[in-house]
Amino acid sequence: MAANPQMEELQAATGKVLASYAGYMNTWSIELGLRLGLFDAIRENPGISAGKLAETLNYDPLYTKVWCNATYAGGFIEKSDGGFALAPHMDTVLLDPDFPMAAGGTAFTMTALREHMVSLRERFRTGERTWWDRTSIEFRESVGMASYPFYVRLVRHAFPKMPGVQAALEAGGRVLELACGTCRGLTLIAKAYPNAKFTVVDGDSESLEMARAQLDIAGVEGVQMTHSPLEDIEFEDEFDVILINVSLHEARDMKKVVENAHRALKPGGWFVVSDFPFPEKLEALRTIPAQVMCGIQYFEALIDDQLLPASHYAKELGAAGFRDIETLDVSPIHAIVYGRK
Ligand SMILES: C[S@@+](CC[C@H](N)C(=O)[O-])C[C@H]1O[C@@H](n2cnc3c(N)ncnc32)[C@H](O)[C@@H]1O
Repeated sequence: MAANPQMEELQAATGKVLASYAGYMNTWSIELGLRLGLFDAIRENPGISAGKLAETLNYDPLYTKVWCNATYAGGFIEKSDGGFALAPHMDTVLLDPDFPMAAGGTAFTMTALREHMVSLRERFRTGERTWWDRTSIEFRESVGMASYPFYVRLVRHAFPKMPGVQAALEAGGRVLELACGTCRGLTLIAKAYPNAKFTVVDGDSESLEMARAQLDIAGVEGVQMTHSPLEDIEFEDEFDVILINVSLHEARDMKKVVENAHRALKPGGWFVVSDFPFPEKLEALRTIPAQVMCGIQYFEALIDDQLLPASHYAKELGAAGFRDIETLDVSPIHAIVYGRK
């Protein structure tokens, strides 16, 4: 029988929609597997059966079997010695937070987005927005986990390519992190550059409480904290390096925030903007990283902003008087724009 081109197209279109649903369910399976320690237990006991996995973790055997089948179907675990083992590289990609492309924490953000996606049913009509202080603790915590790999990439890949910044950090310079959130990332920087002295600012007081707890757990001492909108900070000629990670796009008044950063730096100090590089053109959105960023844009819209192309930050830095402005493309979801006072 001759192939029916229209039927083939319909099958392909149906497959595209079903693949999206499969991805959504895979996200939940990853989230459950990380949260409940199922992946960890499989890593520690390769070849473990679903029944034994349930027994080891004291979990319900039926739920555990359903999870094993789902994560096998998704390709995150595979058959081994009559049971299951992690699929190749999943220990790195899902379970190693220090891997620069670590993707495990993102599952928490994707699932924590549900509260926001549900709220959009009504907000499409009302246009109502929200802000960080009205999001769940789970959401704020998950954002900190998902953004941690940005800091890993900063420390491992980006700072070494920015000799002036690296030298200031190594020499024990004064560092200001704007919009520090839960400070999960700052703990990494503080440990990598033990001589540097840190001040952090965030506009959400509960995030700062979570940050203090995070720093205490990590044993990082001496971090000064300021609760303030970035638009209102009044530091002057104080810092050698100012960093802002995945947050400058959220500024209510970006020009003011960049000017404030300029004023807060000592002459010759560095401003490092690390953020998602949202594609400039609609046609560039048809990639997996862009689809993930488009998902994040729902939350950004809820807090009344949007992720922006890296070129936008370069222009803002130029307008505020920064010089030697450079852009580093670190990964498809990570660009750094930096300049000097
Ligand atoms: C996406 S989170 C990033 C937090 C942290 N940098 C990280 O990568 O985990 C954004 C943070 O910016 C803070 N923020 C956003 N806009 C702000 C503003 N205009 N003034 C002060 N803080 C702000 C929020 O409270 C939130 O903690």
